[in-house]
Amino acid sequence: MADMPEAELLVLFGAAGDLARRMLLPALYYLDADGFMPQAFRIVGTARTKMTREGFLAHTRTAVQERTPGGEIDEQVWSRFAARLDYVAADATSTQGAKALSAVIGSTQRPIFYMALSPSLYAPVCEALAAADLIPPETRIVLEKPIGRDLETSRGINAAVGAHFDEDRIFRIDHYLGKETVQNLIALRFANSLFEPLWNNLTIDHVQITVAETAEVGDRWPYYDEYGALRDMLQNHMLQLLCLVAMEPPSDMEPDSVRNEKVKVLRSLRRFTRLDVQNNSVRGQYAAGVSGGQPAAAYAAERGQASSTETFVALRVDIDNWRWAGVPFFLRTGKRLPDRRTQIAIQFKPVPHSIFDGPAKADLIPNRLVIDLQPKEDIELTLMNKAPGISYDGMRLQALPLSLSLLKAHGGGARSRIAYERLILDVIHGHRTLFVRRDEVEEAWRWVDGVAAAWAEAGQEPKPYPAGSWGPAGAFALIERAGRAWSE
Ligand code: BG6
Repeated sequence: MADMPEAELLVLFGAAGDLARRMLLPALYYLDADGFMPQAFRIVGTARTKMTREGFLAHTRTAVQERTPGGEIDEQVWSRFAARLDYVAADATSTQGAKALSAVIGSTQRPIFYMALSPSLYAPVCEALAAADLIPPETRIVLEKPIGRDLETSRGINAAVGAHFDEDRIFRIDHYLGKETVQNLIALRFANSLFEPLWNNLTIDHVQITVAETAEVGDRWPYYDEYGALRDMLQNHMLQLLCLVAMEPPSDMEPDSVRNEKVKVLRSLRRFTRLDVQNNSVRGQYAAGVSGGQPAAAYAAERGQASSTETFVALRVDIDNWRWAGVPFFLRTGKRLPDRRTQIAIQFKPVPHSIFDGPAKADLIPNRLVIDLQPKEDIELTLMNKAPGISYDGMRLQALPLSLSLLKAHGGGARSRIAYERLILDVIHGHRTLFVRRDEVEEAWRWVDGVAAAWAEAGQEPKPYPAGSWGPAGAFALIERAGRAWSE
């Protein structure tokens, strides 16, 4: 696989922020613990927050302990890891602030600039780094989602970053692609000869993708209120999952082979019209309710005022190509739902003709392949069997799952990795397959903009649903109208 020489340094912009604390610093620690970090690799945190190096070390240690079982830390690993760390307090949106980084970047030829920042800062930081002459030609830049709020703003950001970095040096992260189970989708589809001949509209009736969260928006509302579920989850994570389910087999795992196939799927998504608003979409927002047995506040109460941002979205999506014509994809995602569950369900068609009569006729249900991505990591294929025993009116049938528990298969005790570990390791080595190319992001926005515009045109306000429920009643009606039901 084509790659680049190992990077030497990671400059973490936004090092004092939430993403760095929850995900990036622990992921970097684990990479070191597992022996994946190049020997002389350095990590420099930077943010406007005034902090000494010692302060940053203490901050990082706490962040790591928040992720390790029982807060335990391997002191030998920690001292190796801590020796790599440094911190610079600076406002990197100004040339002068960027210059404060010149001493730590030094003569490094292959730094990684990791932008754990609000996307509105990507352009000013790139410009300041360029003005301070701090972008060696082999620099890699990592951008977090969301890249923009719509096609136009994402184009603006991509152009501003592209003015200083070639496309093959830009690593756009969608952390779902770093999840083991999401990569396993690629293995399941293309490392087994079993599924591919069945993976089309001759055999598959419909596909469901659910990304349900029990968590509230809470104090993330200043970001979330501007984006909502459509832009926060659907534009990126859910469309990526849809692409991996629907894409044609790439010829190999090279970055452009895989990404070309994903772009083709995005281009085949049927555009949303105003008619689809009523029939094929549901916007919801959680009202007060009960979550995990505890009273749960409404989104508007967390936000402090009424809001027309959706915290739930369900859509029927059609893919207009040869393979998927006539196979609806039902997507739903939301906050404050009863279960945390990321699941893909592939519903096969019924047998073309039933030879069973009597009660067995009613027993017969179509096969279903359910891929649980998190928190369970199970794959279940429901098959029809003869129910054991005899009865006076002939054979009875029952559905039984053929199950594969990935956690059990991998020995049970294995730590479940932070998705960012895989992705950061890939940036260090310059592997781009699991990163999102510019045209992919823009195609996804083009389609999502269509949904947002149709909602706006129809004046579609979010429908309330009680916290702890499966969204507005309309989400059930949406799938029932098509003669199907959500997989529970
Ligand atoms: C993030 C969204 O990208 O993904 C969050 O901004 C969401 O709103 C999160 O909670 C979900 O990620 P995961 O890995 O917990 O499924």
